[in-house]
This record gives sequence, structure tokens and C-alpha cells, in this order.
Amino acid sequence: NRTIYTAGRPPWYNLHGELKEPFVIGLCGGSASGKTTVANKIIEQLGVPWVCMLSLDSFYKVLNAEQHEAAKRNEYNFDHPDSFDHDLAATILKKLKEGKSVQIPIYDFKSHSRLEQKKNLYGANVIIFEGIMAFAYKDLRDLMDMKVFVDADPDVRLSRRLKRDITERERDLVGVLQQYNTYVKPAFDQYIAPTMIYADIVVPRGGENNVAIDLIVRHVRTQLEQRGFNFREKLRYAHQGQPLP
Ligand code: C5P
Repeated sequence: NRTIYTAGRPPWYNLHGELKEPFVIGLCGGSASGKTTVANKIIEQLGVPWVCMLSLDSFYKVLNAEQHEAAKRNEYNFDHPDSFDHDLAATILKKLKEGKSVQIPIYDFKSHSRLEQKKNLYGANVIIFEGIMAFAYKDLRDLMDMKVFVDADPDVRLSRRLKRDITERERDLVGVLQQYNTYVKPAFDQYIAPTMIYADIVVPRGGENNVAIDLIVRHVRTQLEQRGFNFREKLRYAHQGQPLP
């Protein structure tokens, strides 16, 4: 069951030339619930080379001039399942699962638009797919091996969102509150919270919940081992061929 590598990059194949599929973790939760913190802690603790993160935010649809003006007035609904190009997201996630490299659109929250350039992502051992509507589409759900819902107190989410939107996304206090009350909060109740039923694990208190993160990491490591992932071998490879101490 030895593994050989192609051109020093994943995807990697076993001796029979069979592609070993990456493990896909779906991470869903309300805006500012701590999805990114949970994802980063999973990545850090997994200790596996080539973990990549894919965000549904990258697949926000391109707005026309009228929608763009509405967005600038905080009057465009970014919290609706139709706001995302989930077909493109599913196509890209499928390709990544097949070990192919892909080009991801880059989304700019300040200008509400896709940037000209794209980001290259290579095949990975573990893919984390995160987003507020990550569980809202069956085609995306079907590509996930494990689904985690990150939960957080609504007041905590609102205060984090206010801070983030003002400091990082060039928004003002009144506009953030208007958008939150008109779209973000109702969308959580209508579209996001109901998808909790698809979760294998619900993580209360988001990124602070180290016990839940530890359980997730243990499960993923077991699953990878069952798929033939050899942690010692891969870590040696990650250390550029140097034997592990
Ligand atoms: O990072 P987070 O999961 O919070 O990103 C999703 C949120 O980003 C949505 O709740 C949406 O209201 C917001 N958004 C925005 N402006 C955009 C696109 C999304 O405020 N141009």
C-alpha cells in the first residue's frame, strides 16, 4: 500500500494508479459565527500537508449596474441562496475532489465585485468548504464527507460582524445595522438555521470550542488513515524528504 507522488504535488496515487480522494469537510454557520476560526484550528491541528480552504463567498454572483448601486446603499440581498453561483462552486469542488487544479474567483467585499485575477488551488488531501449557505444546495452537500455547523450566540455574531464590516469591509455603522436587520438576520432564520439538520456535528460557541474541534480532527485523521493516508510517510514528505525525529 505504498504511495508514489506525481511531480512532487498532490494529487497522489497509490501503486495501482488509483487516485485517492481528498476528504471534504463542509463548514456552515451564520455570518461571523467563527467558521474561519474553526477552519484554521482544524487545519493547524490536523497536521496534514496540503489542506485547502474554499469559500462559498468566492462564488458571489457578479452584479449588474443597478444591483451594484443597491449594494452600495446596503439594499442588495447578499443573504439569499440565489446570490451565489453554486453551480460553479460545485463544479470546482468536484474538480478538486478529482485531484485537478482549479482557478477560483477572488471576491472583493469592499467593491462588491469579483477581481480580475483568480487564485490557483491544487488538489489537496483535505478540502474545507465553508460558507453561510454551504448546506443550502444538495449538489454541494453531496460532495461533502463530513458536515459541521458552527453555532454562535446572535449577539456575538452581530457584534463581530459590526467590527469586521467597519474595519475590514469599509462599511459604516448605520449601513451594517440596516443590512443586518433587513437581510442578514431574517436569512439566518429562514435559510441557514434550518440547514443545521444536515450537520453531522454542531459546534456551539464556534472557534472557542476546543473539545469539538479536537473530536472533528480525530475523526478526519481516522478517515484519512482508512483511505490509506500514512501520516508518517506524508509528514516525512512534507519535511522535504528528511526523516522525522
Ligand atoms: O464571511 P461571512 O460568512 O460573514 O460572509 C457572508 C456575509 O457577507 C453575508 O451575510 C453578506 O451579507 C455579506 N456580504 C456583504 N457584501 C457583499 C457580499 C456579502 O456584506 N458584497
